[in-house]
Amino acid sequence: MKKTLVLLLLGFSIFGCDEGSDDKIIVENPLQTVREFETPPRFPIPKIPEDNPLTEEGIALGRMLFYDPILSADSTQSCGSCHVQEFAFTDNGRRFSVGIDSIQGDRNSMAVINVAWIEDLFWDGRAKGVEEQAFGPVVNPVEMHETWENAVAKLKRHAIYPDLFTKAFRQAEDEVIEIDSVFVVKAIAQFERTLISSNSKYDKFLRNEIEFSDSERRGYDLFFTEKADCFHCHGNALGTDNVFHNNGSDPAGIDPGLFKVTGDFNDYGMFRTPTLRNIDLTAPYMHNGSFNTLEEVVNHYNSGGGLFQPNKDPLIRPLGLTEQDREDLVVFLKTLTDSTFITNPDFANPF
Ligand code: HEC
Ligand code: HEC
Repeated sequence: MKKTLVLLLLGFSIFGCDEGSDDKIIVENPLQTVREFETPPRFPIPKIPEDNPLTEEGIALGRMLFYDPILSADSTQSCGSCHVQEFAFTDNGRRFSVGIDSIQGDRNSMAVINVAWIEDLFWDGRAKGVEEQAFGPVVNPVEMHETWENAVAKLKRHAIYPDLFTKAFRQAEDEVIEIDSVFVVKAIAQFERTLISSNSKYDKFLRNEIEFSDSERRGYDLFFTEKADCFHCHGNALGTDNVFHNNGSDPAGIDPGLFKVTGDFNDYGMFRTPTLRNIDLTAPYMHNGSFNTLEEVVNHYNSGGGLFQPNKDPLIRPLGLTEQDREDLVVFLKTLTDSTFITNPDFANPF
């Protein structure tokens, strides 16, 4: 919900003197317009860092930075190059993303959806929080391959960014913000926290606004019962428990996953469960992009995910689903598509 400064101040003057009331309207900093974070029904309350509250100025700046190739060494690539709105902020069907020097990475681009609720970012959870995550791609040699020093220098020389940073982050009327990487990632993080998807067909079904077809309903029942057993890891409103598991997606054990972060062999081959929201738009699937279609994914789970994999989760076992079951499950997964999310003009490239 957008609130203008005037409204906020009005709210403040009406409720502000009422000491002891638990009214939540607090003007922390009247120099920015606070954006109230709206938690969708059934979603948990996310942790938003106190030193980076959402403001209209910060979100607008973050959106520009997300889409501006200025952050890459040769000014050809932005975050939005590998996180495309139309594909639910994954890249365009590539197995592995390709950076500015045409070097291919070794992991599939992740959907940037509901990241406000994720504490351990990346497939292996190596970044704690959205701010920390955003430090990575700019300097990653197979992504934007820039130095922060250069990126910041380019922003400082720019015609409008210095003013936008000042408007987004100043704490006093006459303060002039000197751009640095911390302000850059804070602004990007604010924008990313607004990328909320909670309006799929499935949500409408839960809100009793529409009915499911027979096949969708059967798929839903399979998903949420032990029969297909998806719900243990993907069952909550976010479509993910946000915990690490080995679901058998990497039979050769090529990618160590969480082990690379913790050094604990019990974590070998474990990856953070990704959201299934908008899953029909984000092929190919898994950290290694090893499945091209949802049918392949469902066949994988149905098979029990291969033998001899260290740390494979006990929930991943042969399921004995019929052909009809598997079809219904895929039909249900497609109800997780949220067309308002991929067409929301507030999330689109502003340039
Ligand atoms: C060259 C393609 C590429 C570019 C450019 C890129 N990303 Fe990514 N992004 C990826 C890949 C691949 C992953 C998964 C990497 C991994 O887990 O090791 C990822 C992961 C993420 C995640 C983690 C999501 C999650 O659920 O944990 C976020 C958030 C993200 N990127 C945001 C950004 C931002 C912000 C930028 C710009 C500063 C950016 N990306 C630039 C390819 C890219
Ligand atoms: C033990 C927990 C667990 C269970 C049970 C489980 N998943 Fe997963 N799922 C994961 C993890 C972890 C990943 C990511 C693995 C990887 O990248 O290698 C994943 C990935 C996926 C993906 C790919 C997502 C993407 O963005 O690439 C799909 C689709 C999926 N699961 C669907 C299902 C369905 C359908 C079921 C039920 C048949 C199911 N999952 C059961 C943990 C689980």
